[in-house]
Amino acid sequence: MTQYASGRMLAEMDDGVGLITFNQPEKRNAMSVDMWGGLGEILDAFAADPAVRVIVLTGAGSKAFVSGADISQFDKTRSDSNAQVEYDKLTSAGRAKLAGFPKPVIARVRGYCLGGGLGIAMQADLRIAAVDSEFGIPAARLGIAYSYEMVSKLVSLVGPSHARMMLYTGARITAAEAERIGLVNRVVADEDLSDVVVDIARSIADNAPLSIRAAKLAVDDTVRADRDRNRAAVEAAVAACFDSVDYREGRTAFMEKRTPRFVGR
Ligand code: COA
Repeated sequence: MTQYASGRMLAEMDDGVGLITFNQPEKRNAMSVDMWGGLGEILDAFAADPAVRVIVLTGAGSKAFVSGADISQFDKTRSDSNAQVEYDKLTSAGRAKLAGFPKPVIARVRGYCLGGGLGIAMQADLRIAAVDSEFGIPAARLGIAYSYEMVSKLVSLVGPSHARMMLYTGARITAAEAERIGLVNRVVADEDLSDVVVDIARSIADNAPLSIRAAKLAVDDTVRADRDRNRAAVEAAVAACFDSVDYREGRTAFMEKRTPRFVGR
């Protein structure tokens, strides 16, 4: 296990799956500025390592995924709109790396998943939650606002009506409600959470990386504003699959009735 941000961010790798842990359990894993820096460093390392096929984000302990930004830093780092611009600068590199991460990301959620913490989970490709999770965006209770980027992410997942309900009331919703409105992919018993996520991560890690990359680019492109779309990049990623060693391996393995072994080329 490697520590970042003075141990508040942890990274480990197991058989193709990179695990990133938000580790500030005494504050319900609230996200400090330096944790954003640590997250960015881990994402860089995992993006560059071909052995990492998929990553899992999780919170230390059983009480929270991430309870949002670290409010105790707000007086210093987000006291007004100018300070907020600075805060955005300090955290934007980590945010951009998460938003643009080229491999699949799974958020494994247990406990509170609030505000910026939900923002992190929404940047993941998949969200798997334990029954005891709670989701919410308390921004209106603090007098701050969710960024446009996060609001549009929320709307893309749950639609404008549920987005308004969450943003206007600031109320927390249960895991079951989150699943019903499409905020999470699946809800499982607390004790099954790790195993279910490992199973999903393993099945992704065993599939052809270039196919998954093409799928990720295509899905991301469909939920982007028109002006930010890059159809050419999606088409190039699709074409790369058809020219890949893995495509040959996939069809050969099928004909030979064996499991394919993909290399990501
Ligand atoms: N930032 C900083 N500290 C936080 C925090 C956050 N986002 N969330 C929790 N903490 C701290 C609490 O201040 C408390 O510290 P203390 O032990 O020094 O008093 C500790 O974590 C435990 O929190 P507590 O409220 O006692 O636990 P709980 O289980 O009763 O409630 C929450 C947990 C997450 C529901 C509650 O702490 C909360 O509402 N946090 C703020 C969530 C929020 O507004 N997030 C959006 C930020 S943009």
